Amino acid sequence: STAMAKKITLVSGIRSSGELLLGNYLGALKQFVELQESYDCYIFLADLHAITTPYAPKEFPEQVRAVARTYLACGLDPSRVTLFRQSDVSAHVELSWLLNTIATMGELNRMTQFKEKSEDQKRESVNAGLFDYPVLMAADILLYQPDVVPVGEDQKQHVELTRDLAGRFNQRFGKTFAIPKPLIRDEGARIKALDDPAKKMSKSAASANSYIAIGDDSDAIRNKISRAVTDSGSEITSGTDKPALTNLLTIFSQLEEVPLKEIEQRYAGKSYKEFKDDLADMIIAALKPIQQTLAELEAKPDYVDDVLAKGAAKARPVAEQTLVAAKRA
Ligand code: AMP
Ligand code: TRP
Repeated sequence: STAMAKKITLVSGIRSSGELLLGNYLGALKQFVELQESYDCYIFLADLHAITTPYAPKEFPEQVRAVARTYLACGLDPSRVTLFRQSDVSAHVELSWLLNTIATMGELNRMTQFKEKSEDQKRESVNAGLFDYPVLMAADILLYQPDVVPVGEDQKQHVELTRDLAGRFNQRFGKTFAIPKPLIRDEGARIKALDDPAKKMSKSAASANSYIAIGDDSDAIRNKISRAVTDSGSEITSGTDKPALTNLLTIFSQLEEVPLKEIEQRYAGKSYKEFKDDLADMIIAALKPIQQTLAELEAKPDYVDDVLAKGAAKARPVAEQTLVAAKRA
């Protein structure tokens, strides 16, 4: 019967530390919340990956919890999803060592994310964890024998490497791993900086006017949207010659969950001000329930630790089973 059918298994890691932005919400969190309905989800906070780039040791644990709280506040349901901290399940690191012995320097050297993240540093001082990052990611994935791995376009190469390593391992040592497919999230959902539509909305921007954080209050949101750059002309339309309006229309359409064209029609002949006022209201309304839940979660500091402890307890036996099979093989 269908009730007995095995659900599709999904694994994904969240590297972000600290405050999440509207871009993260539309590009990642919202999708996870939709996917949890029909998939068997393992979603973890990739804290071991996060420490391959600079971080503040004292603040770091709380930042990881803050990301977990944000996911919960956005609707991730811990009774459906196995939500855990990567470093709580030691099988990730153990399997990554086994995979290290079949991964090659050549293939890791070809990873564009490594090239990008290490390009400003002296080759000799780049930490080895940054180089080895994709092998840990392969272990993260393969432990749960998933069917799919939802990632942004920038992580596709890492999932391809994961598939190569799984195939190589299976061939040399006998079938041990399922070979998962990347589930590439719609690039239409790539939200741009409010002050420069050529860049993505990112925390690393010079000005806070460039992004909307999930925790921003109404005044901040109204202010940032009213200052957001627009394109030449006065029509509210999307297109390659209108990157700023396309971005604002995308945010609107994603939040309201209606096609972008419908929003364009609604604002035909209307002013930028009317459009921006409504957009700000839309963002405020979308973030309000999330912010309320976040405040409730912050008032119960043990709750998130409890969720993560239960998540790790659920993840461990699943991961362990694959690790034991890999060691045996
Ligand atoms: P990051 O914090 O940059 O590692 O991003 C965490 C997740 O949010 C990734 O899956 C990204 O694809 C997604 N994300 C980050 N920034 C944006 C953005 N501006 N638009 C859409 N998705 C984003
Ligand atoms: N590297 C991913 C990112 O930067 C995070 C991540 C770590 C991940 N392990 C993973 C994503 C496993 C998917 C599956 O966003």
